[in-house]
Amino acid sequence: MTTQQTCLDRYFRAHVRELEPYVPPEALEILAYRAGLDPAHASKLDFNENPYGPSPRVSEALASLGNVHLYPDPIAGELRGELAAYAGMDVDDILIGSGADELISLVVSVFVEPGDVVVDLTPTYSMYGGVTLQHAGKVVHVPRGDRWEVDVPAVLAEIERGAKVVWVCSPNNPTGSLATEEEVMPLLETGVPVVLDEAYYEFSRHTFAPLIRTYPNLIVLRTFSKLAGLAGLRIAYMLASRSVLDQAHKVKLPFNTTHAGQVAAVAALRDREYMAANLEALLTERERLIALLREQGELDPYPSDANFLLCRTSGDAPGLHRELAARGVFVRHFPKPRIDDCLRISVGRPEDTDRLLAALDQVRPATRQAEAVRA
Ligand SMILES: Cc1ncc(COP(=O)(O)O)c(C=O)c1O
Repeated sequence: MTTQQTCLDRYFRAHVRELEPYVPPEALEILAYRAGLDPAHASKLDFNENPYGPSPRVSEALASLGNVHLYPDPIAGELRGELAAYAGMDVDDILIGSGADELISLVVSVFVEPGDVVVDLTPTYSMYGGVTLQHAGKVVHVPRGDRWEVDVPAVLAEIERGAKVVWVCSPNNPTGSLATEEEVMPLLETGVPVVLDEAYYEFSRHTFAPLIRTYPNLIVLRTFSKLAGLAGLRIAYMLASRSVLDQAHKVKLPFNTTHAGQVAAVAALRDREYMAANLEALLTERERLIALLREQGELDPYPSDANFLLCRTSGDAPGLHRELAARGVFVRHFPKPRIDDCLRISVGRPEDTDRLLAALDQVRPATRQAEAVRA
């Protein structure tokens, strides 16, 4: 190590030096190349994206995008107008972010001092903990029950000990389970900021957003990355009370979203028919996928209110993950407690389900009963 390097090291923030580096996921092209396949013949079922993509109106709007030499609208006025009608909220209850991940970071910036504790409900989306560590906060993981229900007394005990934020993902990634009113209300009653991450809200048709009027400590996050099919354009929104949004506006970077992202999201929202048709197709496919997996027998899916299924394997999940990838089916494995023997599979198009089932049959031959049903 050079002397200059040793000198520079003294200046890095200590908690940043301690962070684990982020390992980026590999692009579909690379995954497919490794499997020796054309990406067109692969199924990307690892990030819960919408395989149908956004409304054709989004492409039209992007093709005629003007004013790219000007900065975007920092408060995304037109998009917030459309969203107010979509979400049944006031324009002033909405803040637009560059993906829900940015909004998670914004929430932490607003509430978490170095050393403060936040609570997440494991297994859950890893960014709540990851972003908290970036801000020198601490994370307490309260494990969910056997049916992935929230351990309310345990969370209340952490709040009593001084936790600053509680993260509730509903439907929860990766378990697919929905939070109930019985679980969320006691948390809201404490007055502690409770963040309901509703990234998969449309698939469950269940929201806590109307409670914002009664509970100014409730913050709801949603995204255009899932049903709306705009993951690549990084657009999401926060629904919250004026007191939360006043503070969030102070720490938000002025031009956090792009003109392209805003225009695309407006176009997507104006084509409700397309979104509804996609939703129907994905919900229908979710049920077909569940039925076929149960027949096949290798993967045992948990019930899901989202566009993905958490499935127990009968054994070696990392091995099965590799075998599926070699056949052009890319799913997620989390080497984490309690879900280490599971795979998370996004709901895709019928051809994705067929490819997955064919690969499973090759790797772990189907039961005779399953073959008879499918024949
Ligand atoms: C629960 C949850 N919240 C937030 C996000 C991030 O969404 P975005 O693409 O809007 O940053 C994801 C992405 O997978 C997610 O699963």
